[in-house]
Amino acid sequence: MSEYDAIILGAGAAGLMCAAVAGQRGRKILLVDHADQAGKKILISGGGRCNFTNVHTAADRYISANPHFAKSALGRYTAQDFLALVESYGIAWHEKTLGQLFCDGSARQIVEMLLDECDKGRVDLSLGRAVTGVDHADGRYRVSLDGRTVTAPALVIATGGPSIPKMGATGFAYDLARQFGLKVVEPRPALVPLTLGGDETLFRELSGVAAEVVATAGKTAFREAALFTHRGLSGPAILQVSSYWRNGQPVGIDFLPDHESGWLPAAKRTTPRATLRKLLGNTLPDRLAETLSERLGLVGEISTLTDRKLQDAERALSHWQFTPNGSEGYAKAEVTAGGISTAELSSQTMQAKRVPMLYAVGEAVDVTGWLGGYNFQWAWASGWAAGQVL
Ligand code: FDA
Repeated sequence: MSEYDAIILGAGAAGLMCAAVAGQRGRKILLVDHADQAGKKILISGGGRCNFTNVHTAADRYISANPHFAKSALGRYTAQDFLALVESYGIAWHEKTLGQLFCDGSARQIVEMLLDECDKGRVDLSLGRAVTGVDHADGRYRVSLDGRTVTAPALVIATGGPSIPKMGATGFAYDLARQFGLKVVEPRPALVPLTLGGDETLFRELSGVAAEVVATAGKTAFREAALFTHRGLSGPAILQVSSYWRNGQPVGIDFLPDHESGWLPAAKRTTPRATLRKLLGNTLPDRLAETLSERLGLVGEISTLTDRKLQDAERALSHWQFTPNGSEGYAKAEVTAGGISTAELSSQTMQAKRVPMLYAVGEAVDVTGWLGGYNFQWAWASGWAAGQVL
């Protein structure tokens, strides 16, 4: 039986950071993962270049039952802190758009950096071994790992959420949390493509067509690209609103966010022979312009249409309502929203309030960031916060 100061379950973004920080503080750490490789999601992230943080990180870019919970960790370990670490390893990076920072080279550099940081902290790594049991007695956690038992007074749940199960993602964090009596906020796929059915399947014909739009779910709106797919809607604008969308709700799309009210009646006076399709085609991809004008039933020259009809068309184009019949689920979700309830945890240390020396960090917790490096920043910051006190 091996004894440690802390056992961290999950060698993903949050677990690696937590292990490195605690190890470098002189703690004897075991970092465990059932995968044969650490940081698998990091490796595939950002199209292989890892969008490792976002310079606009702030708690209001995260979804949680307690919108204040993330403030403490995010405020103490910032995007600049992670960037300083990246730069100290000479990893070249660039800002792509909207504050998103990516490696110039490969996501592998981030994993190697974190493993190097773990080495500096003399962290023991156990890969490719399933966790077959966890219990707590006499002030120690005992973790059974396929024939080996390890113990420590502290245990960190860093096994993430169930998004992309084929990569080894599981709901293990929730099972473990429930085993120790912690509440779990109903998990759901987030940053996920939405599917269309019924009458709206017609839009599937536009598969591959993208446009910059403002997409809205409830009161939250994002201006980014939306993409039609063979199953429904995707692209950054849709992924962003999907995290706020609930089954049965509509998703609003403004196809012409830069057009001022009254542009169509004005166009009727300046270009009366034009068709709506032609006018929309000045801004939108041709196939989309065609489908939208057909759906509106406005196919002739605009001189033949009343101003009233044109105003109605304007309104429809800026408040188009899709009612998705679902999402593509965990198989395609970049993250899982919901998770271990923040009410159970200290926002300073990520330690459970009612269970001694039990911690939860990263995506396992009910804190979900926007698309664009926010989720990794939460993993680094929450892992760092726990690593300070283990
Ligand atoms: P993470 O999932 O990284 O790690 C959990 C670890 O626990 C895994 O290594 C897993 O094998 C292990 N585990 C699970 N169950 C276990 C069990 N029962 N026993 C032992 N080990 C177990 N975010 C971002 O900010 N920028 C980006 O560019 C991207 N890109 C991106 C692309 C794709 C395709 C996906 C799926 C996700 C992203 N993300 C992202 C999201 C980001 O990857 C995610 O938020 C973090 O990896 C979460 O870090 P965690 O350490 O919490 O979980």
